[in-house]
Amino acid sequence: MNTIKVGLLGFGTVGTGVVRNFQHNSELIQQRLSHKLELTKIATRDVDRDRGVRLEPGVLTSDIDEVIANPEIDVVIELIGGYEPAKSYILKAIANGKHIVTANKALMAVHGQEIIAAANQQGVTVMFEAAVGGGIPIISAIKENLCSNKFSSVLGILNGTCNFILTKMSQEGSNFAPVLQEAQELGYAEADPTFDIEGVDTAHKIALLAALCFGTTVDFDQVYTEGISKISAIDIEFAKQMDYTIKLLAISKNHGDQIEVRVHPTMIPKRYQLAQINGVFNAVRLIGDFVGPTLLYGSGAGMDATASAVMGDVMAVSRDLIAGGKPRVPILGYNADKIKNLPIMAMSEVVSNYYLRFTTADQISVLAKIAGCLGTHNISIQSILQPEEREIDSVSIVVMTHEAKEADITSALAEIEQLDVVLQPTCLIRVENAPV
Ligand code: NDP
Ligand code: HSE
Repeated sequence: MNTIKVGLLGFGTVGTGVVRNFQHNSELIQQRLSHKLELTKIATRDVDRDRGVRLEPGVLTSDIDEVIANPEIDVVIELIGGYEPAKSYILKAIANGKHIVTANKALMAVHGQEIIAAANQQGVTVMFEAAVGGGIPIISAIKENLCSNKFSSVLGILNGTCNFILTKMSQEGSNFAPVLQEAQELGYAEADPTFDIEGVDTAHKIALLAALCFGTTVDFDQVYTEGISKISAIDIEFAKQMDYTIKLLAISKNHGDQIEVRVHPTMIPKRYQLAQINGVFNAVRLIGDFVGPTLLYGSGAGMDATASAVMGDVMAVSRDLIAGGKPRVPILGYNADKIKNLPIMAMSEVVSNYYLRFTTADQISVLAKIAGCLGTHNISIQSILQPEEREIDSVSIVVMTHEAKEADITSALAEIEQLDVVLQPTCLIRVENAPV
């Protein structure tokens, strides 16, 4: 085998980046592989649209079977996105003996078990480095370089679109909608950007990281998911006044008999590393029992950074093919019969610090009533901020709590919102005070 033939499904943002990487670095790729890597066929819906790259005649097709049923093709790259038809195409390609490289976190997080089982049965591999953290080599770090470690936690900023929006809102005072549009124009957002802003994309990614770190299946429906659409300029401003930054954080911790997997806006002290990850950049912090805390950082989305991750996988598969064909590393980094089914801890059991912003009537003893309710539910106040600026008939009271159980916070807020002096639902943001 002197030439490894690759087929591509989907010629959008990332697909175009992959073609650019093939073309720009073909000599380097050949030097590193000692074999030629050929992009034999690209299947996409619209074969007439100019994508800004030149292709040899006959490469582009609208017939998917020219890729997935092509006997010459060894590796299929799926960059269509979404559940269907991507899943059916991947399963058909696997049945035809193709190795798969995909950036599709939604598909892998929700239907990964079925795809991995089919691949294992067929003796082919499925690689998905680009599915998490864009260009950051986080999956290969977990599966290979750090694979002698027991991980206790993995957390990070995993969505470029949200981090881009929060950074611009915080640093430039920008409004949400135009910054989202800018992220879409830059090719960062998902086809359906509500997946980004409502935290679903981040949840897909942390589900995959938890599975890889802790060697377990992760029931995606059990992942607590809250996005950034309710974050307001006022909370960003209060966070700044208290030396915090708001980030959309994905958090997963191993408690032995269960795991924590959650996604929500989080206040982080400004001095921590994750608070300084801005724009489209992502960062993942892992704690391994031998390596200790380790931070990986890089571009979390975009054409070229994501293509870099896809091409790294294509070259890794190619090296296995050159060495004889059998995949060297198990798909989730554990032998298939050793994967556990750890349950996800209920959100009510989670312990955190909390930022609570109450909108109340401007009357005496309001604070005492709120503090009383919090105390009744075992919630201890760490600090209070009551800004001097006020609306005509309401004031904001900001409370930072010591560590509390989510179930107690929920009960306390239910009671507080019954008080006649409390005028609006409470704004709650979880706070991560442990170094991140
Ligand atoms: P785009 O929407 O830009 O591209 C999707 C491509 O798939 C388009 O070229 C489209 O065709 C093609 N396509 C859609 N449906 C079909 C179909 N039924 N048959 C054939 N082709 C089809 O998406 P991205 O490139 O941004 O994303 C691709 C994948 O990469 C997704 O899974 C995404 O989550 C993931 N990803 C994206 C990142 C990013 O920064 N954009 C980063 C990391 C991962 P056509 O153009 O011909 O209409
Ligand atoms: N929409 C995703 C993001 C793409 O903004 O992070 C990268 O996975």
